[in-house]
Amino acid sequence: MSSLTPIRFAEYDPKALAEMTGRVAVMVTPEGSMDQAARSANRLSKGAIARLIGSEGFKKAKSGDVISVSWPAGMQAEALDVLVLPRKLTPVEARKAGANLAKGAAGKRLTVMAGGMNKAADLTQGIALRDYEFDNHKSPQDDKPKGEVVIACKAPSELEAACAPLLAVAEGVHMTRDLINEPANVLTTTEFARRIEEMKGIGLEVEILEEADLEKLGMRTLLSVGQGSDSPSKVAVMHWKGGAKDAAPLALVGKGVVFDTGGISLKPAAGMEEMTMDMGGAGVVTGTMKALALRKAKANVVGLVGLVENMPSGNAIRPGDVVKSMKGDTVEIINTDAEGRLVLCDVLWYAQERFKPAGVIDLATLTGAIIIGLGHENAGVFSNDDGLCNAFLKAAGAEDEGAWRMPLGKAYDEQLKSRIADMKNVGGRPAGSITAAQFLQRFIKDGMPWIHLDIAGVASVKTDTAYAPKGATGWGVMALNRLVADEFEAE
Ligand code: BES
Ligand code: MN
Ligand code: ZN
Repeated sequence: MSSLTPIRFAEYDPKALAEMTGRVAVMVTPEGSMDQAARSANRLSKGAIARLIGSEGFKKAKSGDVISVSWPAGMQAEALDVLVLPRKLTPVEARKAGANLAKGAAGKRLTVMAGGMNKAADLTQGIALRDYEFDNHKSPQDDKPKGEVVIACKAPSELEAACAPLLAVAEGVHMTRDLINEPANVLTTTEFARRIEEMKGIGLEVEILEEADLEKLGMRTLLSVGQGSDSPSKVAVMHWKGGAKDAAPLALVGKGVVFDTGGISLKPAAGMEEMTMDMGGAGVVTGTMKALALRKAKANVVGLVGLVENMPSGNAIRPGDVVKSMKGDTVEIINTDAEGRLVLCDVLWYAQERFKPAGVIDLATLTGAIIIGLGHENAGVFSNDDGLCNAFLKAAGAEDEGAWRMPLGKAYDEQLKSRIADMKNVGGRPAGSITAAQFLQRFIKDGMPWIHLDIAGVASVKTDTAYAPKGATGWGVMALNRLVADEFEAE
């Protein structure tokens, strides 16, 4: 689970190298030039690093790679982690290098001889991001290391202060991953709401709307998705008021389907277990709100998540049913497995009605079609506003989170025409992700800047990524946090 290995900032003292235990990381440039700590470690180990630099393996090493020397002579350390890093590097390079160190350390004691390197804060964030394992359903192991990360640097208290907001973001990312990785029998709608309510402790205003409230508001499309489940449908509102009193908030809206069986339009058995991640959009919204609160962002942001479970039962919605949205538009349900848009449309409408936001960004594991289009490298980005969209793409690029803009258009909207209602909930196989976005756009008011992020391909993946082990990635928390910092925060 997401208990970060504690990170301590200490005075840089290469003379203490010989006595350090656990793993010790030192830096060497791709050209083979050692920094002060690397030179000391090289001396102690009777030239181990110099021999490493002369080896064939080193020639193939890329920036950010870690080459480990086990039980180096002349030192107490169990391993010397030689980090190959150019002196000039981007924040993302530094972060990836930190992630590589954390991957090797796997929770064991690690001392990073950062010295006066610039980008030490990003490197530290990289360590925190990769220092993650979802193991709270595995029987405890007695020999599990309880390490500590020590960043040895020239100005520890300054670096600690510089790292604080970056580590807050890493905590938000970990929360998102925990929510997404959690199985659906644990993360019910009720448990999800409870975890959100816990965030009152870090200064968020939290409100949970229960089924009776949603009924009163007329959120029939959202309620129709949850009506086949024994778990009650809910909408959670998280409000962070860090900006000017009268500044309209940014609204983040998330799809929180805690499990998606498909409903009466039941999904095939193979792979259905993956649908525990169908609350990914809500998970990213929640983790982002946590990050913003922890770093006390000077912005007004409201997060809203629709929490439901899509189950087949005697009470479930049927194909052919017609339901009325909070907006008043009616929807003919063709496929009960296209449920995400039914949840989002009511929450989107409510968010605009109640909060009059400056912009709306929704996140959802909405369509399998986006995985066919973009794979697991990029989320699909749909927007009616070039300014907001470009700002988001820039933020995602800076954070190394893949995002690719997709088109919208009236012609696609035609596919949603229904014989008996204002629209149907599916537009057929062609352009499945775009027609889903078109459906959502019908619930966006004229002139409201809006982005829809289809994260079905990136929320949880089957291979390790640069910053996370296989499973939930936390994609989006860093990009959204940066977008808020760049566009919505008063200096
Ligand atoms: N939750 C799924 C989309 C999804 C698929 C997320 C794979 C993550 C991985 C969504 O509710 C869904 O079932 N979409 C259908 C829509 C179709 C019925 C129009 C789909 O993509 O097949
Ligand atoms: Mn579905
Ligand atoms: Zn779904």
